[in-house]
Amino acid sequence: MSDTKVAADDRREGEVAVELPAQFDASLYFIGRIRTPWKRREDCPKNPRQTNDECTIEIDPRWTEGLRGLENYSHVVILYWMDQARRDLIVQAPRHAPEPRGTFALRSPVRPNPIAVSVARLVRVGGNAFTVVGLDCIDGTPLLDIKPYFASTDSHPDASFGWPHSGTKRHPVSE
Ligand SMILES: C[S@@+](CC[C@H](N)C(=O)[O-])C[C@H]1O[C@@H](n2cnc3c(N)ncnc32)[C@H](O)[C@@H]1O
Repeated sequence: MSDTKVAADDRREGEVAVELPAQFDASLYFIGRIRTPWKRREDCPKNPRQTNDECTIEIDPRWTEGLRGLENYSHVVILYWMDQARRDLIVQAPRHAPEPRGTFALRSPVRPNPIAVSVARLVRVGGNAFTVVGLDCIDGTPLLDIKPYFASTDSHPDASFGWPHSGTKRHPVSE
């Protein structure tokens, strides 16, 4: 690991940055934009369960047919692109955590591929847009994908978490 070539060096103590690969392995399409009440990162909920605000997902007209049948589901999985996140931190020091954590042990938007995921409650579908409750991103955040949420396969009621080094159990809300 190297901590060289870090563009915006606002790292907290204990954070580690890596040099990013010289080229990408794949391309993707932004299929729409997410309209939310929040203009800045610090205004956003820390996770989708912290808010009851409605957000509207606007699909580019090319993809509208893909929404057919979505109204049958109560909840949807939304994948989105955290376009304001740096991508080179591999160890991060969230304010809430007792010690630095690996990026892949966090829900932070800061990651090599800044893909975010939320399960949101579907409120209504109409035209090339639909409204949900349960998102945590800045207004205008690019949309990557939408999938129906299946409680039968996606829910793990026995899942657990913890902070073994602190001996405490707390929700790993990251930032
Ligand atoms: C902790 S992340 C969780 C995202 C998603 N629910 C997940 O678990 O993958 C949510 C935070 O990302 C930040 N954020 C929101 N929109 C962003 C954007 N477009 N680019 C970078 N960071 C963003 C905000 O600070 C927000 O509170």
